[in-house]
Amino acid sequence: MAMTCFEVVKQVLDATYADIPGDEATRDAAIKSALASMTKDYKDLTHTGGPDFSDPVVRFAYVFKYVSSHSHWLYELIGWNGSTKELFRQKKLRMVAIGGGPGSDLVGVLKYMDTMSASPSLHCELIDGCLGWKTTWSDLAHELDWSRPLHTDYVTHDVGDPGTWDAPSNIAKADLVTLSFFVSEIYHLGTAAEDYLRTMLKRLKPGAIVLFSDNNAPKFYTMFDRIAAEAGLEVLESDQGNRKIYDWGEQKDAIGVYAKKFEHQARLSGSLSWRVLRKPTAS
Ligand SMILES: C[S@@+](CC[C@H](N)C(=O)[O-])C[C@H]1O[C@@H](n2cnc3c(N)ncnc32)[C@H](O)[C@@H]1O
Repeated sequence: MAMTCFEVVKQVLDATYADIPGDEATRDAAIKSALASMTKDYKDLTHTGGPDFSDPVVRFAYVFKYVSSHSHWLYELIGWNGSTKELFRQKKLRMVAIGGGPGSDLVGVLKYMDTMSASPSLHCELIDGCLGWKTTWSDLAHELDWSRPLHTDYVTHDVGDPGTWDAPSNIAKADLVTLSFFVSEIYHLGTAAEDYLRTMLKRLKPGAIVLFSDNNAPKFYTMFDRIAAEAGLEVLESDQGNRKIYDWGEQKDAIGVYAKKFEHQARLSGSLSWRVLRKPTAS
């Protein structure tokens, strides 16, 4: 049976839970409280930005609540576009996930490879402002018993600090670049967010495919569309609407134990915008 995003998330949650200090009751109370504040933080995303991921309790809450659905939606997006699917027929695939620290983008790609029996060796660079995510995903291949070559790298860029944007990244070599729920997270930084996106999109090689998936709010996608157009990217797919995870049973089987413990459900539906873009090859 094909791997589900929830199964991978369950493995990561088990490992992260073990890393949180304190006895079981203390950990559970902290996680419940983080889940409640996270829902509140995301209601005011435009003004204050997202949660503070430097705390492992907050990282656990994010992975539990959001990673399965975000990775599932990215997995679906890959399958909706012929040029993107074509990338998975290559022998080697190099991806860069900007704002990919929590691993959703990588899990979505792995789910696509697993479902389609696609076997490129995968190099995945995660770029994120929060170093705390690094340990979560660095030994994923080992945890998953993934049989194909998989290498992950972690690069720290803080959008609010332009001095970090030149930390060495291989984005100029990437075949596939993902921005999943990242533009909305940095939107509150204003000009710095725009300049960062401009800087990164300018570095793409001809033929690189960009996948954008985010909340369905015009302020986020119009900003991204404008910057993508300035960078000369062609639009292959562009739409917005309601999305959900179809197999609800997936959640119950894999992470039901945590849902029960925290009396909280993982996200299973949302109103989204999505884009597939390509840097033109020279004519
Ligand atoms: C909503 S999460 C999205 C994660 C993942 N791509 C997904 O789809 O679930 C936003 C990510 O942006 C990162 N982030 C937030 N502010 C940032 C900043 N100023 N610079 C760099 N990364 C930032 C966070 O650490 C987090 O990993």
